[in-house]
Amino acid sequence: MTLLDMLPSMGRVAPGRLDPAIWPVTAHSDEEGRLCVGGVPLTDIADEFHTPTYVIDETDFRQRVRRYRRALRGVEVVYAGKSLLTTAVARWAAEEGLGIDVCSSGELAVAMAGGVRPSRIVMHGNAKSPEELREAVRVGVGRIVLDSCIEIAYLAGVARQRQPVLIRVTPDIDIHGHRAITTGISDQKFGLTLHGDRADVAAQRVLAHPILDLVGLHCHIGSQVTDPALYGEAIHRMIAAMADIRARHGVILTELNIGGGHAIPYIPGGRELDLDELARVIEDALDEACAAEHFPRPTLVVEPGRAISGRAGVTLYRVCSIKTQPGGRTFVAVDGGMSDNPRVSLYGAQYTVALANRHPMGLKQRVTIAGRHCEAGDEIARDVELPADLHPGDLLAVATTGAYHHSMASNYNMVCRPPVVAVKGGRARELVRRETIADLLARDRG
Ligand SMILES: Cc1ncc(COP(=O)(O)O)c(C=O)c1O
Repeated sequence: MTLLDMLPSMGRVAPGRLDPAIWPVTAHSDEEGRLCVGGVPLTDIADEFHTPTYVIDETDFRQRVRRYRRALRGVEVVYAGKSLLTTAVARWAAEEGLGIDVCSSGELAVAMAGGVRPSRIVMHGNAKSPEELREAVRVGVGRIVLDSCIEIAYLAGVARQRQPVLIRVTPDIDIHGHRAITTGISDQKFGLTLHGDRADVAAQRVLAHPILDLVGLHCHIGSQVTDPALYGEAIHRMIAAMADIRARHGVILTELNIGGGHAIPYIPGGRELDLDELARVIEDALDEACAAEHFPRPTLVVEPGRAISGRAGVTLYRVCSIKTQPGGRTFVAVDGGMSDNPRVSLYGAQYTVALANRHPMGLKQRVTIAGRHCEAGDEIARDVELPADLHPGDLLAVATTGAYHHSMASNYNMVCRPPVVAVKGGRARELVRRETIADLLARDRG
């Protein structure tokens, strides 16, 4: 008889589902206390692919897309590829009926290799090069979102046939979030402010060019937005701007893209943008704003990224060492860190962490999960509760790491980037292999 059998109350977690607000929809713990995602024990993935590894639950990704399509009927949903993009992920999004937003020739190439129709691709970026614009035009991307007047000149120089474009503007809406992800205010690098005549001058230049077809306006007010009313306010300001363009230039724009930024919870109790509420706000705001301006209702487009890919992802780490500093914190060092998850050092992001390989025993302790990199700020999670019997070799799973992890990974300290492994129906499939030292040396010309 084990100690656990004698003292069942000592922290044994009943098998079952994990909080679906944070963990992938298929996540559960089995009889042995192992966490499973997509029907695959995470220990098996760690054994086969080693650690750190990004695990992506295909079912979770697809279910989030379907939820969007059910909630936002009549709204075009374009998946923000910057949050997570591999050819398979692009294919899932396209199969579920979404377009894809890309920000570089690299993202464009991956989306195309995933079989996304170019007409369903929206090209973004605040510093597109003439080469990137030429490539976008060559493959026939459906929409190019222009961010500055010089881009209009570049695009005019490379376009050979009718090219639909939108102009990105800032409606001056402050989401009061982290400055790095607050993009709807005027004093930041994206878009053209609606104050003064900047946006109007850009519209005039596009309209003056015979094959650039100005179809609409775009804005992205920021990320981790929990209040749907902010999108309502954006719609009011954007429709007013579209009515201004009609008054000045006699053109009726037919498309309004209000970007993404829909919040998801990363820790228990964290807030999420309510999609049903968002649908109501969009309907009401469009009705009111179009009635007030006597403006025909445009097609509305949204660009969620993390709300589709974030919860599908779990990152696996192996515990390397545990150290309690006298009078200080207990540090659990793992074999990854800010090279596979820069969001903690960038935005002070918080995460939920669980022991993934066994039942915990006994009491809990409050720890900091520290990374392996040469910076004191290299942390994955602070003040998380983990079993007191945690030891080197244990496997940890960090939830909500599908978005902006693989896509933001670096080679800091010449650490190789982790693989991306998709799970579904009890099977694991490597989507992106682990980077090797040979990959790193291949770029070094000596
Ligand atoms: C233009 C644009 N659209 C969509 C997104 C997606 O944001 P999120 O992943 O927070 O939904 C971003 C994020 O930076 C963006 O810049």
